[in-house]
Amino acid sequence: MENFILENPTRLVFGRNTIETVGSEIGAKGCRNLLLVAGGGSIRSNGVYERATASLASAGIQWGELWGVQPNPTLDKALEGVAEARKRKVDGVLAIGGGSAIDTAKAIAAGVFLEDLWQAYEETVKIECALPVFVILTLSATGSEMNHFAVLTHQTERKKWGLGSRFFYPTVSIVDPSAQLSLPWEQTRNGAIDAMSHVMEFYFSARDQETALALDESLLRSIVVATDRLQQQPQDYASRANLAWAATLALNGVSGATMVGDFMTHGLEHTVSAFYPQVAHGAGLGVIHPAWIEYMEPTYPATFARWARNVWDADSVKEGTARMRSCLQRWGAATRLRELGVDREQIPAMAASIPPSRRKTKLKEMALADLEAILNLSW
Ligand code: NZQ
Ligand code: ZN
Repeated sequence: MENFILENPTRLVFGRNTIETVGSEIGAKGCRNLLLVAGGGSIRSNGVYERATASLASAGIQWGELWGVQPNPTLDKALEGVAEARKRKVDGVLAIGGGSAIDTAKAIAAGVFLEDLWQAYEETVKIECALPVFVILTLSATGSEMNHFAVLTHQTERKKWGLGSRFFYPTVSIVDPSAQLSLPWEQTRNGAIDAMSHVMEFYFSARDQETALALDESLLRSIVVATDRLQQQPQDYASRANLAWAATLALNGVSGATMVGDFMTHGLEHTVSAFYPQVAHGAGLGVIHPAWIEYMEPTYPATFARWARNVWDADSVKEGTARMRSCLQRWGAATRLRELGVDREQIPAMAASIPPSRRKTKLKEMALADLEAILNLSW
């Protein structure tokens, strides 16, 4: 078992009608002047914006607004937010949305103190401080509501990098599962796949971690149960809540404690969505993760076989990946990169765009040929 430190400073406020507490929660942290960061407008149509801003107003909190964060959020949008935050001299950033709004808010919070935000993503500059980040989550997927990661795309360089900083932990995150009753099925499903993928990024590096393995198998199975239920009954609050909690646990330090994550599947998917921004993160992972499992099984067959048996009731890894793919098909997800519009000729360029420093993973130091092979298997 690996040594580990588990520290997570985020205050998580979970449940029905918790959006109405956002004003008092933020007020209690001493913030009075925010930048509200949001996406394309779903929070207006489902009433979350009204509920949140009524609470801010009644707590005497002022705010400016940055709209238009897109899925696979961009450096340019974050820089627009940095300029706005500086102009308004805000003392905190509030994201209302999914991972894209949250990650943009985190980048803005650090970016106001940096000359060149992208250098932090290139890891040539270290983040030394950031404004406090607050979150109202509307899509359970990334775990960004309770972790220290933020992912951003540099469009012209076709780079999508994840960055970890202890300043990226949100100060308070509000997870009201009722905000997710308005999600289209595809978003619910993509979020579930992302959460499963986070658990699996850690799981396969485990050897003798019985407690963590059992915990993670339960998480994976409970994500499948909740998602199956939501496919039939999208308005089922209990399943929304169960999926939301599982997705938070998947990447807030708990599912991965005792292990060192691998995250090569994430590296590959980030590259695919840097080249093809229309590919949703969860959709890309649903294709790449089973292929990665097939390719990597020989590195430690015992854990892979255990995953097949305990998560998918399968007698072999081959059967386990087949059952995973048929689950994804039942959910209407793609199982091949070509279904997502990816051109096979781009595979060498996509693989080459991952620098050697991002290819050393827990399970294997990946050569360019390994990356190409996994992308080809996924295609
Ligand atoms: O933009 P709006 O109109 O809000 O619509 C969004 C968006 O189109 C919609 N949506 C969100 N909540 C909704 C809703 N529609 C109806 N009702 C609601 N309640 O869903 C669409 C997708 O939203 P987005 O935030 O892009 O999705 P997600 O949460 O999956 O975030 C994906 C981004 O996070 C990164 C991904 O790479 C990707 O860039 N990740 C961030 C991580 C982190 N910070 O820890 C880890 C992950 O592995 C991941 O890489
Ligand atoms: Zn992910």
